[in-house]
Amino acid sequence: MSRLNNLCSRMIEFYRDDPARIQHFIKVHSFAKLIGEEEHLDEKLLYILEAAAYVHDIGIRPAEAKFGRCDGKLQEQEGPAEAEKMLKSLGFEQDVIERVSYLVGHHHTYTDIDGMDYQILVEADFLVNYFEDHLETESIKKSVKKIFKTETGIRIATEMFFPEEFQMSDTWAQDGLQELDDFIEAQGIYIRQ
Ligand SMILES: [Fe+2]
Repeated sequence: MSRLNNLCSRMIEFYRDDPARIQHFIKVHSFAKLIGEEEHLDEKLLYILEAAAYVHDIGIRPAEAKFGRCDGKLQEQEGPAEAEKMLKSLGFEQDVIERVSYLVGHHHTYTDIDGMDYQILVEADFLVNYFEDHLETESIKKSVKKIFKTETGIRIATEMFFPEEFQMSDTWAQDGLQELDDFIEAQGIYIRQ
């Protein structure tokens, strides 16, 4: 079994008897991988992103055990040590462990997003949370505009939650041609047929 699949299995064990949380990280991983591949992340960054997506909410259980609640801040506080332990036991490389732990400790912080792995993890988590938390379309739209940066993430969010934004007018082809004509005229460009 690949190291990432091992990690996935360990997370399923970790959330034993809690199908909602298992399905949550499986979905976040799937969106993260899709966006990461479409945005051409290099192999290493994609690997970090996938590992982070599996373990991103690992702080929930220790936070609940220690404090009886698991808000975002507590998850960020309790998550990294737990993630490190699990990744180490599965033989992940030290630099991967460090970056994944950092992402686990910051994935509810939306200022200072410092890399594509971080950005895509946040987008994937939002895509799943909008649905799981039954957010209203207007709030989703606002949050996508504020947080999302990747073309793939924005496209998925739009398709899934407000596809009317994609609807074209009946005369879109004509409008497009007219716009092109206007552009050419404005630029004084001559195109040979
Ligand atoms: Fe999450």
